[in-house]
Amino acid sequence: MKFVAFSALALATSVSAFSPTAFAPRTSTSLSARKPFIAGNWKMNPGTKDEAVALGKEIAGAFSSSTPCEVALFAPYPFLDATVDAVGSSGVKVGAEMAFTEGKGAYTAEVSVSMIKSVGCNWALAGHSERRTLFGESDEDINKQVLNLLNNDVGCILCIGETQAEYEQGLVGPICTTQLKKNLLGVTPEQMANVVIAYEPVWAIGTGLTCPASEAQDVHATCRSVLADMYGQAVSDTVRIQYGGSVTPETVDELMAKPDIDGALVGGASLVAEKFSRIINFEEAKVSA
Ligand code: 13P
Repeated sequence: MKFVAFSALALATSVSAFSPTAFAPRTSTSLSARKPFIAGNWKMNPGTKDEAVALGKEIAGAFSSSTPCEVALFAPYPFLDATVDAVGSSGVKVGAEMAFTEGKGAYTAEVSVSMIKSVGCNWALAGHSERRTLFGESDEDINKQVLNLLNNDVGCILCIGETQAEYEQGLVGPICTTQLKKNLLGVTPEQMANVVIAYEPVWAIGTGLTCPASEAQDVHATCRSVLADMYGQAVSDTVRIQYGGSVTPETVDELMAKPDIDGALVGGASLVAEKFSRIINFEEAKVSA
């Protein structure tokens, strides 16, 4: 648990809001825990439903009462239903990698929020860098997706992060600030209870180049201060910020020891049950923050 100062405002906003993950029960009005949250983003993998079911079952089998975090798997649409069945009552959540902004109609190939909810998914990603760069999603598109998810009581992991060129120009802070402000436009403080931020430097995704933990911590702290400007410190202190980009069993412990790193969004290593099992069962506080 990551303990943070907690105010009456945060209590008021959190108790009134629907929360698909729900923070750990609050026993004090002076402290709130940000329960770590580690998610696997399977992207366009694995190749078949049988493989997805086998992977979901193995990961669910590695999730236990001693696992120090919430766990979710973001699976391709055709496998959502089967993955929900595969994880069963383990407590592992299953989400969609995106949801379109319209409810229904003539939108060939798109998938709506009600569709993903109807197969047991209460989470979705928005703004993944592959959607931004390969499929041309704009900050405005992503903002519509975020609002649509939250207005339909679906939790949202909003992915942000700079490209290699932006990193080299020292633009990490401004890029993350702009994406947070544009992508969360219109999201209320109450709705922030259902938002998780994933900081994913694009240059670290799928490259084996993990952002050094101390650098990631600095960016997470910057993001939290931007959220404090937007929503107030009390709300900002309750928002979980994941790190994503080449997270492995070897790097997870040091990342998770940092005070503002509240979880991970894992691509490649989430496709290998043994690796992802070690990641979700990271060693708490074994590495000095
Ligand atoms: P990798 O862990 O493969 O770098 O992918 C990260 C990612 O894009 C998660 O959304």
